[in-house]
Amino acid sequence: MKRVAVLISGNGSNLQALIDTIASGDLEAEIAVVVSSRADAHGLVRAATAGIPTEVLPLAKNQLEDRSAYDVALATRLEAYSPDLVVLAGWMLIVGPGFLDRFPNRVINLHPAMPGAFPGTKAIARAHAAYQRGEIKRTGVMVHYVVAEVDAGPVVTMEPVPIQPDDSLSELEERVHLVEHNLIVAAVDMVLRSL
Ligand code: GAR
Repeated sequence: MKRVAVLISGNGSNLQALIDTIASGDLEAEIAVVVSSRADAHGLVRAATAGIPTEVLPLAKNQLEDRSAYDVALATRLEAYSPDLVVLAGWMLIVGPGFLDRFPNRVINLHPAMPGAFPGTKAIARAHAAYQRGEIKRTGVMVHYVVAEVDAGPVVTMEPVPIQPDDSLSELEERVHLVEHNLIVAAVDMVLRSL
């Protein structure tokens, strides 16, 4: 059974999609650990409920500018669980070379936008605002291999998400999240099969 480490920072609805699909037998994998960058992330409750080991590793104030020590600490913490794949599912910290070099081609990230569009935080809100200004007609979701550049790197899979003229931000968020929950499962399945 391939071992997956899931990194979260908040709600963990994508983690839940992975937990549920594994439980239903439709995804052959084991979540070896869930790591959160925040102690109050609801995803930690989801993991504990599913009996998955959890770790919390917040970024210290003195690590804000130089992330290298954090990257090494995170990689060391994860290596103890021998993951075959590291999945960033709502992980809101940038991971640098000190981390990526320890898991070459083994880190994927879920991002709520199409490749090249809206990297960073609040991507759905920025897509919603861009639609209002007539700059885009649709948005999307992608899962990609993680490289040093934020929310960039070879795409594993992606799916466009339509925006309706009268969409509120929360309606668009809900539509994006529904797509994400399928896409993250498909991407993990695809990548694990390729290992
Ligand atoms: C998801 O929309 C994910 O794509 C996004 O955070 C949300 C986490 O939701 N990630 C990023 O924006 C990364 N740049 P969840 O905690 O309910 O899975």
